[in-house]
Amino acid sequence: MDALTTAVFIFFYVFSLLRISAAVDTITVNQPIRDGETITSTGGTFELGFFSPGNSKNRYLGIWYKKVAPRTVVWVANRESPLTDSSGVLKVTQQGILVVVNGTNGILWNSNSSRSAQDPNAQLLESGNLVMRNGNDSDPENFLWQSSDYPGDTLLPGMKFGWNRVTGLDRYLSSWTSADDPSKGNFTYGIDLSGFPQLLLRNGLDVEFRAGPWNGVGFSGLPQVIENSVTKFHFVSNEKEIYFSYSLVDSSVMMRLVLTPDGYSRRSTWTDKKNEWTLYTTAQRDHCDNYALCGGYGICKTAQSQTCDCMKGFRPKFQINWDMADWSSGCVRSTPLDCQTDGFVKLSGVKLPDTRNSSFNESMNLKECASLCLRNCSCTAYGNLDIRGGGSGCLLWFGELIDIRDFTQNGQEFYVRMAAADLDAFSSTNSSSKKKQKQVIVISISITGIVLLSLVLTLYMLKKRKKQLKRKRYMEHNLGDEGHEHLELPLFDLDILLNATNNFSRDNKLGEGGFGPVYKGILQEGQEIAVKMLSKTSRQGLKEFKNEVESIAKLQHRNLVKLLGCCIQGRERMLIYEYMPNKSLDRFIFDQMRSGVLDWPRRFLIINGIARGLLYLHQDSRLRIIHRDLKAENILLDNEMTPKISDFGIARIFGGNETEANTTRVVGTLGYMSPEYASEGLYSTKSDVFSFGVLVLEIISGKRNRGFNNPDHDLNLLGHAWALFIEDRSSEFIDASMGNTCNLSEVLRSINLGLLCVQRFPEDRPNMHYVVLMLSSEGALPQPKEPCFFTDKNMMEANSSSSIQPTITVLEAR
Ligand SMILES: *[C@@H]1O[C@H](CO)[C@@H](O)[C@H](O)[C@H]1NC(C)=O
Ligand SMILES: *[C@@H]1O[C@H](CO)[C@@H](O)[C@H](O)[C@H]1NC(C)=O
Ligand SMILES: *[C@@H]1O[C@H](CO)[C@@H](O)[C@H](O)[C@H]1NC(C)=O
Ligand SMILES: *[C@@H]1O[C@H](CO)[C@@H](O)[C@H](O)[C@H]1NC(C)=O
Ligand SMILES: *[C@@H]1O[C@H](CO)[C@@H](O)[C@H](O)[C@H]1NC(C)=O
Ligand SMILES: *[C@@H]1O[C@H](CO)[C@@H](O)[C@H](O)[C@H]1NC(C)=O
Ligand SMILES: *[C@@H]1O[C@H](CO)[C@@H](O)[C@H](O)[C@H]1NC(C)=O
Ligand SMILES: *[C@@H]1O[C@H](CO)[C@@H](O)[C@H](O)[C@H]1NC(C)=O
Repeated sequence: MDALTTAVFIFFYVFSLLRISAAVDTITVNQPIRDGETITSTGGTFELGFFSPGNSKNRYLGIWYKKVAPRTVVWVANRESPLTDSSGVLKVTQQGILVVVNGTNGILWNSNSSRSAQDPNAQLLESGNLVMRNGNDSDPENFLWQSSDYPGDTLLPGMKFGWNRVTGLDRYLSSWTSADDPSKGNFTYGIDLSGFPQLLLRNGLDVEFRAGPWNGVGFSGLPQVIENSVTKFHFVSNEKEIYFSYSLVDSSVMMRLVLTPDGYSRRSTWTDKKNEWTLYTTAQRDHCDNYALCGGYGICKTAQSQTCDCMKGFRPKFQINWDMADWSSGCVRSTPLDCQTDGFVKLSGVKLPDTRNSSFNESMNLKECASLCLRNCSCTAYGNLDIRGGGSGCLLWFGELIDIRDFTQNGQEFYVRMAAADLDAFSSTNSSSKKKQKQVIVISISITGIVLLSLVLTLYMLKKRKKQLKRKRYMEHNLGDEGHEHLELPLFDLDILLNATNNFSRDNKLGEGGFGPVYKGILQEGQEIAVKMLSKTSRQGLKEFKNEVESIAKLQHRNLVKLLGCCIQGRERMLIYEYMPNKSLDRFIFDQMRSGVLDWPRRFLIINGIARGLLYLHQDSRLRIIHRDLKAENILLDNEMTPKISDFGIARIFGGNETEANTTRVVGTLGYMSPEYASEGLYSTKSDVFSFGVLVLEIISGKRNRGFNNPDHDLNLLGHAWALFIEDRSSEFIDASMGNTCNLSEVLRSINLGLLCVQRFPEDRPNMHYVVLMLSSEGALPQPKEPCFFTDKNMMEANSSSSIQPTITVLEAR
């Protein structure tokens, strides 16, 4: 009796177990799933059923991790058509179609399959894939339908991300609208097939981020995403399909890639111990990952004060936009292509440009690729398809090159078509001496040409200026003080400034500039300002004041101090600038305590910034401005130590092409003045280049040119630098407080550059354009000639004011 009862009990128990385990991961025609019921994959990782996302009350059919709380959904069936109650049912039809129906049997979603079915049933696999099978046929080739072909916002290990080229099925991710709403949001992420296939993340139709083409190892724009001991990558491209997928070495790890509602592609792993998802990587890491931020032929740079650069041989299309940090208009060629004599320049350490307008051939090598590109005039660049084993395949770009950025690691290289003229100027990466000589010759010829041209222009301009001056005087005479009405600059009330600076109290005084004291102020809105009060005794008259205001107001550049406004009240004249919390460069480089703050990378950024600011003044702004008093005191530093050139008080506006002029009044600072300026009052952009050179040498050595002392000789800093340079001992010139932060080759190049800038004859000095180029390239630099160095100790004693009128007699040229 007992035995019988036990036997019956066991029978029913086993039967019920069998029943449950048979049904646990499968839905059959006869066994639909109602809201509240679920099925679980065999290993217990995933669960399928109805759920409500976030704070929503709507019901959806979905798949989620069974063991993860809070619920993490990886796939949703009826994402566009939610149920508003719990009447939903998931059924398998005789035709092998999955349907979600509501309480009145209205179909909210179905799984569309055209294949004929026999004994169809749906199984939730351990991979998180819901598959429709015929009977127990578990061959993926024969599945009637599978959820992984229709991904939502999540890519799980093993899922194919890409195209079935035969059926045209595109498996791409689409973001949820929000955490509460799984309907399709604004963002999609998938493989784009135009040109050489690449991975694009779009917001609507606009590309937001480009992971780029597959290069055999990873995606060109995702250098951080490489195979490791945790994940393996698979990229398959043949005539049948093209897709990417990833797998995990340790299958117990849970990893998912999600396209978030705000458009980020994030990969995270589940950490049991912490009971949370840990972010593993994000595809978009910095601002340079914004698609085409720098426009055509622009390069986005991460480790640089300025975000965008033009590629070598290109210049901003609209400088004004660039100066306002809108780089989207991109760059244009300095020299147009002529198709016949063009060549190529290699660009490395970058993300390959957008490949939508490209073509490719997998069996060609790089040499064949180059000649193919050269033969087709609309081909603008070429490179390898696959970087493995030294590179193979051929990728050709047509038209504008867009969305290029630099990478410090795992960047790629490609070759850009250039006009022959630009090739010569930029082939400095190849340091064969012939080329160098050629380069020097080209440079000196062009410099001589420019000097001759400018002489002619100067004469012409001087004549023209006389006429203009006459007219201006006439206008001023007639307009009187109303002449400043055309200024597009805010005029500040004296009361406001009195308030802001605490009645110009001594505590607020920042220093004494060449033309009067400078005060710190805080406007009512909290904005910090620097007020430069122009002393009545200064020689700066109304004319010069207006001159300065007008010129500065028109200049906007990251490396120039911004003029916020001015104040003219009676005889009081003031300029209001943005306040620079770190004050000026001299406070750092010449100070034993603070000089440690500026390591070499910072100093190099500062040198670069000053060069760009000066280049802008000289060449790129609509006006041509020579600073005439460039010195460490006039380089201000913002919060991030970005250098800003200040004090254009003595800069003169030049019309158009005028680059050299004679002046009756020499204004400048000892130690920074070029010989021709100090002795003859002749100034040109090359005088600024001289001052820049002095500044570079000061920044590197941490010592002032003026008042420089060395026990071994009585040379000034320039002479000292030169002496060490010709003896190949330049490394002794480096400021010890930079410690071991120095990139020696960069420092030595900078010393070389500084010496090129302080050469005796203006014609020998490079212009700022060339300076900026030399700073950003890695090739060998021309050999400088001996600078004009002299001891200036006598001068020091004679006069130490910062703004004096030296005469030739105080200069002891050697
Ligand atoms: C069920 O769905 C059908 C069609 O989608 C719809 O017309 C009907 O109102 C729904 N019924 C309920 C109770 O939601
Ligand atoms: C099902 O297939 C038809 C025709 O092929 C298509 O129009 C429809 O959008 C498909 N529905 C789903 C849910 O994929
Ligand atoms: C599928 O079922 C058939 C008969 O029902 C059986 O012979 C076969 O071994 C099964 N295959 C698998 C993989 O279970
Ligand atoms: C999606 O686009 C719409 C319309 O452009 C916008 O209103 C909405 O804020 C966007 N959503 C997200 C998450 O960006
Ligand atoms: C591709 O070329 C077409 C036609 O020249 C152009 O309109 C389009 O902007 C180019 N696309 C890219 C991504 O360069
Ligand atoms: C690719 O290049 C090879 C070798 O030059 C050539 O034989 C082949 O036709 C090219 N394929 C295509 C599709 O152009
Ligand atoms: C250059 O390449 C483009 C794009 O592949 C092609 O349309 C054009 O015919 C080619 N031109 C020549 C001269 O081969
Ligand atoms: C420089 O050019 C020569 C021939 O023109 C070439 O063999 C060499 O590889 C080039 N060097 C570099 C660094 O590009």
